[in-house]
Amino acid sequence: MQHNDALQIIRPDDWHLHVRSGEMLKSVIGMTAAQMGRAIIMPNLSPPVSNAAQAKQYHQEIMNALPADTRFTPLMVLYLTDNTTPKQIQTAFDGGLVVAAKLYPAGATTNSDSGVTDINNIYPSLEKMQQLGVPLLVHGEVTDAKVDIFDREAVFIEQILSKVIEDLPDLKIVFEHITTKAAVDFVLSSGNNIAATITPHHLLANRNDMLVGGIKPHYFCLPILKRRDPHQLALLKAATSGNAKFFLGTDSAPHAKEHKESDCGCAGILNAHCAIELYATVFDSQNAMDKLEGFASFFGADFYNLPRNTDTIVLKKQDWVVPSSYAFADSTIVPFMAGKILNWKMA
Ligand code: DOR
Ligand code: ZN
Repeated sequence: MQHNDALQIIRPDDWHLHVRSGEMLKSVIGMTAAQMGRAIIMPNLSPPVSNAAQAKQYHQEIMNALPADTRFTPLMVLYLTDNTTPKQIQTAFDGGLVVAAKLYPAGATTNSDSGVTDINNIYPSLEKMQQLGVPLLVHGEVTDAKVDIFDREAVFIEQILSKVIEDLPDLKIVFEHITTKAAVDFVLSSGNNIAATITPHHLLANRNDMLVGGIKPHYFCLPILKRRDPHQLALLKAATSGNAKFFLGTDSAPHAKEHKESDCGCAGILNAHCAIELYATVFDSQNAMDKLEGFASFFGADFYNLPRNTDTIVLKKQDWVVPSSYAFADSTIVPFMAGKILNWKMA
């Protein structure tokens, strides 16, 4: 079904999602479960999800928090630390719940203090992952204080990622939430074992949205929003190109309102409340609605060697106003596009 005002697609999956734990988890998990078949669950809790037992426990907590009538499947991820061993990798993947491992350079973002201080420390684990065919998920930013925050992704490609793919040519890598033309070009010029996710906010916004006319903390995320030209434009082109190397990953990352509107505000944007509508808006703006289903529902599953979903969702062209806030644990949260009109709605 494809009229100009309605589109039916295979149910999408979210290949990069933060749902937190406890009451925060209960506040947001239903948003994703209403839209997505599966989601890759980020392990940056405090303490991090860094072994099979923790992944199993977190998986159970998510299952318990799900609304009764959903068939949503959380896909678990192991948080790599300097002390992760190849044996821990093997055990986690043998358990069946864990489908990938995540590299947070130490200090790069929220709850990354236990992350990796030197890529060489995880080489034995990366070799094991290459052998097992397990994808490495990468937060691709250097943490060197001398490197400008807007350059951290490009420098990560030069200093770290290029070396990793040279040393481990068959390792599957998802370069997560890419934000620059450099990242798009890097993915395009690499083999088919290198893919990337792209968020709705990096497609719909640029640093002007965050900084012109007053600082807008609800646009603050990491990697930080970049320039429209060439970066946002390169992401738009990549996402809507139909190239299977690029797929949906929202990086929806909820923080309470008071932790965003603060003298040291947290990085992260909640977009799970209207993730597929945001992507539909993007693809429509590029006259590429025919490319949405591949990006949202096929390419990620194919990359992870998981079956595509078989049920469908329907998107309708229909104006609606995004709520200005949602309840979030014992606080509230200001979602992406709060108070704005979107013109696609999931039926
Ligand atoms: O903006 C972000 N928020 N980027 C990340 O890498 C982490 C995330 C979070 O967990 O809040
Ligand atoms: Zn993230």
